[in-house]
Amino acid sequence: MPEERASRFLVAFHLALQALKSHAIENAQVRRALDGLAKSANAILESENQLVARVAGELLYVNSAPVHLDVENFASLGHVLSTLQLAGVGIIRLQEPANSQEWKMLISQILKCSAKEGGPEGFLEMRRRLGDLGLNRILVEPPVDKDAAFADAPQRRESAKRTYQRSVSVAKDLFNSARMGRSGQVKEVKHALQNIVDQVLKNEVSLVGLTTLRDYDDYTFIHSVNVCIFSVAVGRRLGLTRPQLFDLGLAAMLHDVGMSWVPVEILDKQDKLTEEEQRQMEAHTWRGALSIFNLRDYEGIPFRAIIAAYEHHMKPDFSGYPRSVRSRKLSVFSKIIAVADAYNAALSTRAHASGKSPDLVLGEMWSDPDLGYDPVLVKALITLLGIYPVGTCVILDTFELALVHAANPDSTQLHRPLVRVISDPDGTWLGQPPVVDLADKNDEGDFRRTIIKVTDPDKYMVNVSDYFV
Ligand SMILES: [Fe+2]
Ligand SMILES: [Fe+2]
Repeated sequence: MPEERASRFLVAFHLALQALKSHAIENAQVRRALDGLAKSANAILESENQLVARVAGELLYVNSAPVHLDVENFASLGHVLSTLQLAGVGIIRLQEPANSQEWKMLISQILKCSAKEGGPEGFLEMRRRLGDLGLNRILVEPPVDKDAAFADAPQRRESAKRTYQRSVSVAKDLFNSARMGRSGQVKEVKHALQNIVDQVLKNEVSLVGLTTLRDYDDYTFIHSVNVCIFSVAVGRRLGLTRPQLFDLGLAAMLHDVGMSWVPVEILDKQDKLTEEEQRQMEAHTWRGALSIFNLRDYEGIPFRAIIAAYEHHMKPDFSGYPRSVRSRKLSVFSKIIAVADAYNAALSTRAHASGKSPDLVLGEMWSDPDLGYDPVLVKALITLLGIYPVGTCVILDTFELALVHAANPDSTQLHRPLVRVISDPDGTWLGQPPVVDLADKNDEGDFRRTIIKVTDPDKYMVNVSDYFV
């Protein structure tokens, strides 16, 4: 199946990127990833007589077949796309079978180039260097058309993306240092937070749109950044000031820092946790609080973050954890973070929970008082996430591209607007785009279509106004 092969190549490319990014020295993991990549690339070349991987908008094509998004490759695709886009690479072409060392050369240069975000000039320099290194079996080319890396996409979406990516890597470093008992780069965390707060204030939709990214390998870091974005956006709706939003964002970014101590086997465990495992999991609250206390190079100790790390799983009726011996008024930061945390956790497919649709999660949080979330805060989150402004370009789980046509007349379906489907799953433009209701269900009672991602219409050369005049 060519499609499966394309998807396998993509995942292998992603693994090689990840491995080379996190290990400076070539170790067994790096070797395995590179061997896997070389093997999968050569297999495609052998059976299809060519291997051309091409970036087009939010899609990646391997020999003209689009790599379809699915649960397994969704995160990999996002990572590969953004790295190639930042490095200005539009096409990777395998001329002849190449070995793992040649792939290593290519990927190392792509990583370097993407870190510098050198634009078209950076790309040319990289290509020159690859030529000097003697790499001639794998070639890179710039994007062929407007819809790729250097498209005149609105700057704000690009800067939202950068803020998001940097925040994830900052969170990663912070968690790793916390685990090793070091205080971590608080300065960088603060810088990332400044950007998040700025963007939420100026351009909320772009940043909130990115929280749909859910990478299963980097779950904790992405979770922290998503919870941070949701919390700051909710805080903004509650009228918090900028410094307060900054404090709230810091608390949200650090709320699960104690997870660094929970063994991976427990985090990944599919079955019900034993009592001891549950105890270790719950310990992330007080352990997090203690480790924030050690963030020495912060100007002053971030007390609110300590409190939120400790309280974010507590409930007003004390049914949560850590157990409180006497009545306790939870801080508003803890309550906001609890709502953002529950929402993001419920949407992510981690070992314990299966991904649920956003409106279902919000509906439960809103209507079930036993869950213990502050209704005012849930309402704020609902109004925030219900925003899919008319004209927003979205990718559906059917792989169709659509534009939001109108809010759903049924106000319980804030997440399921009416959309105009403009291209079919194969990317063919529909002459008379039909308007469909995303709240429609099939005979089995499942939604026919669900938004998986907000995207930039320019990347697909879609002129939104054409559909609204
Ligand atoms: Fe937590
Ligand atoms: Fe959390």
